[in-house]
Amino acid sequence: MPHTMRHAAAPARTTEQRLVDHVERLGAEHPPIELSSVDFTVHRPAVLAERYGHVLDYMARVELEVDRNVLELVTLLPDPPEVDRRFFADVWQPQEVQHGLILDRLQVQVGRPPATPDLDTVGAKIKVLGMLAHVAAIQDVVRMLYYLTGAATERSAVLAYNLLHRGVTEMGETAVADTVIAPIRRQEPGHFAFYQLSARGLWSELTGWQRWLVRRLRRFSFAPVGANHDGQRADFGEVMATLGIADEPSRFAGEISRVERELLWAREQGLKVPAYVARGFHEAVELAHARARRATG
Ligand SMILES: [Fe+2]
Ligand SMILES: [Fe+2]
Repeated sequence: MPHTMRHAAAPARTTEQRLVDHVERLGAEHPPIELSSVDFTVHRPAVLAERYGHVLDYMARVELEVDRNVLELVTLLPDPPEVDRRFFADVWQPQEVQHGLILDRLQVQVGRPPATPDLDTVGAKIKVLGMLAHVAAIQDVVRMLYYLTGAATERSAVLAYNLLHRGVTEMGETAVADTVIAPIRRQEPGHFAFYQLSARGLWSELTGWQRWLVRRLRRFSFAPVGANHDGQRADFGEVMATLGIADEPSRFAGEISRVERELLWAREQGLKVPAYVARGFHEAVELAHARARRATG
C-alpha cells in the first residue's frame, strides 16, 4: 500500500525513469525461460497437433522472427535511446527467442516440422520508414510507430496465449498448459507495458505535424502480428478461427488497438476500432476462407 501511494504522490518521476525501472525489473524478475524447466509431456500428440499445431507454428515463427525484428529496429532507429536499446537487446530478444524455441520444440514433439522463420529479410515498408528516419524530426515519428506496433503485437500475444492456454487446458494437456504456455504468457504483459509507457511518453512530446504524420504512416504500415504477405495473412486468419477470434474479430481488434485509439484517434468520439486495424483482421479471415475453398474445391 505505501508503495502505491508513493506512486500516486510522485508525478514528477519522468517517463524515462519509469522505463528504466521497468526494464530493470523485467530483467531481474523474468529471466529467459530455461528449456530444462519445461515438461514436454503430451498425452495425445496427434490430437494436439491436429487442433493447435498450426497455432503453435505461427507463434513459434513470430517469436523466432524477433531476430529479424532487431535488424528492422536498427534500420528504423539508427540511434535509439539507451533504455530502448537495453530493453530490446537485454530483455526482450532473449525472452522471445526462448518462447520461439520452446514452442517450436513442442510442435516437433507432436510430429510437425519445425517453423521456418524469416530471420533476415527486412521488408519494403520498413526500409521506406528507415530512410525517412534519417531526417532527425522524423526519427521520433518512426519511433512512435515502433512503439505502437510493439503495443499491438504484445497485446495480441497476451490474448492469444490466454486463449491457447484455455484450449490446451480443456484438452487435459496440463504439462503443456502449465510449463509451456503459462510461463510464456507471464512474460508478455511486461513487454506490452514497456511499449505502452513509451508510446504515451513520446506522443506527449510530438508536435502537430509529427502526430499527423504518425496517423498517416500508421494507416499505411499496420499489419496483424506476423502477417507480412497473403500466405501469412491467411495463416493468421486460421489462427484466429482456431482460437475463436474470427467469430468476433472487432473485439480482438479493439483490444489490440486500444493504445493507438487513445492517442492517435482520441478526437474521433465513439471509434471502437481504427478502420485499418479492422480491415487487417477482416482480410486475414477472408484469405483463410478463400484458401480453404481452394483446398476443398
Ligand atoms: Fe513472446
Ligand atoms: Fe513479447
